[in-house]
Amino acid sequence: MADQQDLIIVGGGPAGYACALKAAQLGLKPIVIEKRMTLGGTCLNVGCIPSKALLDSSERFAEIKKLERHGIVVPGATLDLTRMLARKDQVVRELTAGLTSLFRKSKITWLQGSGRLVAPHRVVVESSEGTKELSGRAVVIATGSEPVSLPGIAFDGRYIVSSTEALSFDTVPRRLIVIGGGYIGLELGSVWARLGSEVTVLEFLPRLLPNADAELATMVQSSLTRQGLRFQLGTKVTKVVVSQGQVTVWAEHEGSEREFHADKVLVAVGRRPCTSGLGLEDAGIRLQARTGKIEVHRRSYLTHVPGVYAIGDVIDGPMLAHKAQIEGEVLAELLAGHPAVVNYDAIPSVVYIWPELASVGLTEEQLKELGRDYKVGRFPFLANGRAKALDETEGLVKVLTDAKTDRLLGVHIFGPRASDMIAEAVTVMEYSGSAEDLARMCHSHPSLSEALGEAARQAAFGRALHF
Ligand code: NAI
Repeated sequence: MADQQDLIIVGGGPAGYACALKAAQLGLKPIVIEKRMTLGGTCLNVGCIPSKALLDSSERFAEIKKLERHGIVVPGATLDLTRMLARKDQVVRELTAGLTSLFRKSKITWLQGSGRLVAPHRVVVESSEGTKELSGRAVVIATGSEPVSLPGIAFDGRYIVSSTEALSFDTVPRRLIVIGGGYIGLELGSVWARLGSEVTVLEFLPRLLPNADAELATMVQSSLTRQGLRFQLGTKVTKVVVSQGQVTVWAEHEGSEREFHADKVLVAVGRRPCTSGLGLEDAGIRLQARTGKIEVHRRSYLTHVPGVYAIGDVIDGPMLAHKAQIEGEVLAELLAGHPAVVNYDAIPSVVYIWPELASVGLTEEQLKELGRDYKVGRFPFLANGRAKALDETEGLVKVLTDAKTDRLLGVHIFGPRASDMIAEAVTVMEYSGSAEDLARMCHSHPSLSEALGEAARQAAFGRALHF
């Protein structure tokens, strides 16, 4: 006889653990199945958190060079990579342990093992301790995603690596090639460039960050070029060969073949949903032909099989931890009988390079494609007092609004601490606010957030106060 549960959640990442925590708060009894030895999924274990720990550490190292302008001279600063990596691992350990204790406090059971759907309401868990069958009122698939490589180019974990291994190189590679100028390529490329690698990014498209506002993506490229990264755009990688501890990458660029040499290659060309080995197709769950993502009803997260739901990276939408988390929370509320919905128009995204790039809503290119009549407000950090005091004047805020109603349609920030600043724009968009609303909000002085108010003034009134 199978163990009977309210809710069986397969996957303990941001989607799964958030769903479990909220469900427990609402009086349901969830059980989580996770194949890693720790909770937290890619984000906590080998994604967002360790990469941000390394980005913050490497940025401090890079900052030492900027300190002279502040009148601080630090002679002979050296890198202790082993300690830097140990600190990153410690951050991960503390956060995953924190999650385990939160589960304990919330009386949520989690089983280490691989879950597989054997019938609509039944999941088999296989672990080193054997096999166990569970039965639940609802089953939630929250198994996340994994890095993909290019055809004919296999990860070997040492020379041809994914983001996971690029978080733990034991020495700084002299030359690092990054294939893909997206989130991972730019973030991890930045880390190793700051620590001393000669980094070359090979990007297939004629621009970086295909989903970002093009004007800001161009600024990102110039900024990172000044920081020492090299970019080869419009470059399609065709082959990678490892020989005698060195890597050669072949690529096509404007009809001719080019060769690049490095100690390591990071392949960062995207991620695919983890859907195999879960028994999904046998159970009748449909996958999208193009993306391999699980088809669900947009608001209820129900798959084509009654009682089986899916959330996070395995369904449509950006593969972002906070999108997965909010879906987990909303699904728990729905399963507990409460109305809840995710506003997909107000999901921010951040690239944690320095300065940071943060966005919410539509880009200028998307507005043009939609044929929308829009207004633009811009404000450079160069004219912001706090940015001047910080000596961080690179970048700008760009506000896009509906030309007729002034409703905020998109906000894009390339600048210091953009990841924190974007929250204000998300709030205004969540309440369907206008640029005038944003402009009339009182921003503390001196603060970086004044630049957002100023860009909003320019969009709403045609002029910023200080520009
Ligand atoms: P990505 O989709 O952001 O970028 C992949 C890039 O590789 C694209 O620019 C694409 O044009 C390029 N590419 C594809 N084939 C290529 C080829 N043959 N040669 C050269 N370039 C090629 O994917 P990425 O960076 O791997 O990240 C995966 C996902 O992980 C992201 O979509 C994001 O959702 C998530 N992520 C989010 C982060 C954040 O929120 N800060 C950080 C890291 C990852």
